[in-house]
Amino acid sequence: MAAEGQRVVLITGCSSGIGLAIAVMLARDERKRYYVLATMRDLKRKDKLVEAAGDAYGKTLSLLTLDVCSDESVKQCVNSIKDRHIDILINNAGVGLVGPVEAISLDNMKQVFETNFFGVVRMIKEVMPDMKRRRSGHIMVISSVLGLHGVAFNDVYSASKFATEGLCEALAIQLLQFNVKVSMIEPGPVNTEFELKLMTEVSKKEFAGADPETLHHFRTCYLPTQVNLFKGLGQTPEDIAKVTKKVIESPRPPFRNLTNPLYTPIVALKYADETRSLSVHTFYHMLYNLGGVMHVSVRIMKFLSFGWLRRRAISPT
Ligand SMILES: NC(=O)c1ccc[n+]([C@@H]2O[C@H](COP(=O)([O-])OP(=O)(O)OC[C@H]3O[C@@H](n4cnc5c(N)ncnc54)[C@H](OP(=O)(O)O)[C@@H]3O)[C@@H](O)[C@H]2O)c1
Ligand SMILES: *[C@@H]1O[C@H](CO)[C@@H](O)[C@H](O)[C@H]1NC(C)=O
Repeated sequence: MAAEGQRVVLITGCSSGIGLAIAVMLARDERKRYYVLATMRDLKRKDKLVEAAGDAYGKTLSLLTLDVCSDESVKQCVNSIKDRHIDILINNAGVGLVGPVEAISLDNMKQVFETNFFGVVRMIKEVMPDMKRRRSGHIMVISSVLGLHGVAFNDVYSASKFATEGLCEALAIQLLQFNVKVSMIEPGPVNTEFELKLMTEVSKKEFAGADPETLHHFRTCYLPTQVNLFKGLGQTPEDIAKVTKKVIESPRPPFRNLTNPLYTPIVALKYADETRSLSVHTFYHMLYNLGGVMHVSVRIMKFLSFGWLRRRAISPT
């Protein structure tokens, strides 16, 4: 149970990756300011977390079962918490989906929305009313840079993160009245099981329904690009946990944080051109005209972002 003065943090999807890293980092806070409720849908997958938490396990970290896709599970979990009191809710659970849209079943797409979007909605509906009543709380979402710009062959995943971004932007405004904060963390590539799961899935799938040309683009332009992006720019789950902790501890938490500065110019590009054609064409060239040699576009991204930083550095503002 949380000690006097400790903030109760509930995190979804803690069996691996970013959720695990955030849970461990908060639970091992030097000043023991947090009591972490690390949740996962299947407690059989708890070993990695328990090991990483070390002696924090049972002291500042405890485990609960929670499946963000189940109303019942979410209710049960929150009801099992003392006074249903959660100071900080971190929506981290999420699933990826790649491939040509025409080759993906609607059921599969709905599953992604069920987790990435409705999972967040379900958690917020259960936790936010108490936060409003108490006039205190912080709701966070591990979104993605794909929630800010669409990436080819990640159409539905991007859409699910865009949906979440829209939900939270609208909520953030209303919740200011109640002193409840909302923050989105937008990582670029992070080396977790996430990408591995996707790549394994992709290697098994046939993508029936997509024409050979599209499949060729997918397999020879997109996939190698991805592998290189993760190798070249990938952050660690601990990097994301550090940023998340900083946002929590900030006196005025930002609404957004792009964890990887290399993505700042790409997002800026989108807002610099109101027709948005510039971003679409830039992504097009990155994907196709460079013929899949994505290390080149990794270099372009680095170049773009250094240019951007330089310009910002000399600008009078
Ligand atoms: N990795 C990246 O490059 C990247 C980049 C930007 C944003 N993100 C976002 O970061 C978040 C965490 O991803 P990750 O990279 O840490 O991937 P991960 O290692 O695959 O972790 C995802 C976690 O979500 C859990 N989960 C899936 N469905 C769930 C459900 N219905 N209920 C509860 N938990 C569920 C998984 O649990 P199981 O073990 O039971 O499957 C797993 O613990 C996701 O929202 C993802 O979209 C990731
Ligand atoms: C995100 O947070 C990190 C760590 O606090 C900070 O260095 C970075 O500037 C922030 N990014 C944005 C876009 O605010």
